[in-house]
Amino acid sequence: MSHVAVAHPNIALAKYWGKRDRGRNLPAVPSLSVTLGGMTTTTRLTTADVDALWLDGTERAGRPLERVSAMLDLLWSEAARAGARPRACVESRNDFPTAAGLASSASAFAALAVAGDGFLGTALGVERLSCIARRVSASAGRSLFGGFVELPAGAPGDAHLPAAPLAPPEHWDLRLVVAVTTEGAKDVGSTEGMNRTTETSPFYAAWVDAAPALARRVREAVVARDFEALVAPVEQSALAMHASAIAADPGLLYWNGTTVEVLRAVRRLRAGGVPACFTIDAGPHVKVLTLPEAEGEVTRAMSELPGVLRTISARPGGGARLVEAG
Ligand code: DP6
Repeated sequence: MSHVAVAHPNIALAKYWGKRDRGRNLPAVPSLSVTLGGMTTTTRLTTADVDALWLDGTERAGRPLERVSAMLDLLWSEAARAGARPRACVESRNDFPTAAGLASSASAFAALAVAGDGFLGTALGVERLSCIARRVSASAGRSLFGGFVELPAGAPGDAHLPAAPLAPPEHWDLRLVVAVTTEGAKDVGSTEGMNRTTETSPFYAAWVDAAPALARRVREAVVARDFEALVAPVEQSALAMHASAIAADPGLLYWNGTTVEVLRAVRRLRAGGVPACFTIDAGPHVKVLTLPEAEGEVTRAMSELPGVLRTISARPGGGARLVEAG
């Protein structure tokens, strides 16, 4: 038995940062993302005596393997299947560098949900798979779907909270240029960073207050394909998220000097009439959103900045899907 699924990373235009319920992994704020084409995680499950995990050709034990087994257990129990769950050898490969700051966990858990569902024969449907992926890593719930995707905030006690597609990839040909500012791994992962922000930042409550209105404005701009209207709420969502994190104890400084230079360069481009705006995740790279006609100019401007090691380009892509079963 062998099942293979592919999935793509996503980038949040309105950020998720903070949990309402840690056990159920319910987001405290609504988020809106675009799933990216081109960059792909491919995950193959084959029958085995015990669960095993191979990431990009290296066998992994400990926490990564535990998370994989936990997701397969969730699929099995969600389908109310009796008896012992079949064990799997999981082989996962990314065709994009993890150092690019594009969360590989989102595409990894989305691909695993779909491949696991095929392998176990649970036939759960995309909504329940999104819900399960969200429980393991909230941003992964969004990568089940292609194009523009929303994940609502959870209400206390919510059992069922999937992401939902807002518009297909063809809706809007947005372009993303990632300015890579370091090859190193990030210091503090998203889960730990957002939990520290929740527990210690005096600005966390202000972030949770502000996020829903920002997400609504991002939504309206996406629906209307209005780049000018997208700029302010996208940048404010990222900056407000980082402001809450910076004020944590100890403060989370995800940026390096080049990060700030890139932010300034994006604003200079915009002042010169180029459609461009930035967003930043839990790392030092800057993701610049633009339109097809300006992609070349944005890429050139980013590449010329001292400290930018290289750029990676992406555009909206499809959701997670099974590509081989049998
Ligand atoms: C900054 O989805 O990785 O990328 O649910 O704890 O696994 P967990 O967190 P994760 O957080 C992503 C945070 C972010 C913003 C976003 O993608 O919305």
